[in-house]
Amino acid sequence: MKILAIHGPNLNLLGQREPGIYGTITLDQINQSLRERAAAAGVTVVPFQSNHEGALIDFLQAEGLDAAGIIINPGALTHYSLALRDALASLHAPIVEVHISNVYKREPFRHTSVIAPIATGQIAGLGWRGYLLALEWLLSIEG
Ligand code: DQA
Repeated sequence: MKILAIHGPNLNLLGQREPGIYGTITLDQINQSLRERAAAAGVTVVPFQSNHEGALIDFLQAEGLDAAGIIINPGALTHYSLALRDALASLHAPIVEVHISNVYKREPFRHTSVIAPIATGQIAGLGWRGYLLALEWLLSIEG
């Protein structure tokens, strides 16, 4: 069983980028935690990060159809990428949208997600552990 962990623009800079908001953990460390937790359940996590909308869509088209679940932090694409939303909507797997920060406490442009209406659920504001909670939920429903 395969679960995708997709990270959008600027999330490659986790650890150095605005640590007061996003913390000091790196993307590699997050992916490693996801891989370890999934491996304990006999599941494979396939991580992918890109700063490019099209590359994220290409990856979803290539890997998404046979995925059992999708964890995605679309970064700023959350707020405007209808192309990413359409790519996700064409898949069958449950989708958990994750945000490290509580986007609803921040600037008004972050309060809108064009992804949320086609996601199964959303986790925001729980820091990097939100990714693990998303994984835990996906494992529980696939159980
Ligand atoms: C983010 C929130 C977005 O508004 C922002 O553009 C990001 C990160 C988060 O994880 O809190 O890049 O998705």
